[in-house]
Amino acid sequence: MTVSTFGGPVAEFYARFRRGYPEAVVARLGAALDLNVGSRVLDVGCGTGQLTIPLAARIRAALGVDVEPDMLRFARRAALDAGVGNVSWLLASDAELGAVAALTGEHMFDAATIGQALHWMDAPRLFRTLRRLVRPGGGVAVITNGEPQWLLDTGWSRALRAHLEAWLGQPLTARCGTDRDAQRAYREALANAGFGRIEEIAVEHREAPLFDGLVGSVYSAMSPETIPTGRERETFEARLRAAVGAEPYPEDVRVTLLVGRRGAG
Ligand SMILES: C[S@@+](CC[C@H](N)C(=O)[O-])C[C@H]1O[C@@H](n2cnc3c(N)ncnc32)[C@H](O)[C@@H]1O
Repeated sequence: MTVSTFGGPVAEFYARFRRGYPEAVVARLGAALDLNVGSRVLDVGCGTGQLTIPLAARIRAALGVDVEPDMLRFARRAALDAGVGNVSWLLASDAELGAVAALTGEHMFDAATIGQALHWMDAPRLFRTLRRLVRPGGGVAVITNGEPQWLLDTGWSRALRAHLEAWLGQPLTARCGTDRDAQRAYREALANAGFGRIEEIAVEHREAPLFDGLVGSVYSAMSPETIPTGRERETFEARLRAAVGAEPYPEDVRVTLLVGRRGAG
């Protein structure tokens, strides 16, 4: 059973501060998966809907699945606020998706997406389940939304990393599925599950958050018990501000789409 680290304040910071996907990314994803206004898409690890909601605007219907109820609560609210009414939200882990196939029948979806979430899941098992859920000719897209903000090759990012490592008392090296080895493993697992027509796409854009945006995004990546509160938060933010220097904090964000398609037969 997956232990979620996205509850409580993390979900709140995620909904408010975690960057979404620019329209160019959603359009490129739609083209790679051959989506149209009749398509049904399953978004696994949908979080607070950063990908699900803009995607839903281009298709017939989406099902957002996440193991963390707090994330789904914010996703649902964001969809209501955006006037998007064609998303259903399901509280389930990747391991429980077989139940969806039992409910809907096989091959009900035209595509499945996993946005910045596969490193929490068992990729080979998930792709095998998705083969039951996605129709022949359909596809699966594994999306990453830039490198962790404390692992970039910029002065402010190095300062952020040093600050976080000192605060948490541990080195921060995990690349959350964005590294070459993880991508290679995903690619192999996609092919082994029958999604063997593979395309790799990158869409780049530039962002420059101010301090509040940066720190909010950092909190959205921490576990609930490590997010400082009260006076501790004041100290955390004062030290961080001194370390990273003047805002803004420019970043070249590279969004990657690893898209595997099934044969049509
Ligand atoms: C980093 S967030 C990504 C959210 C969103 N897809 C995005 O692109 O911003 C990862 C999400 O995966 C969810 N998650 C983690 N393990 C999961 C699992 N085994 N099954 C389903 N969702 C899971 C978490 O609750 C969290 O909402």
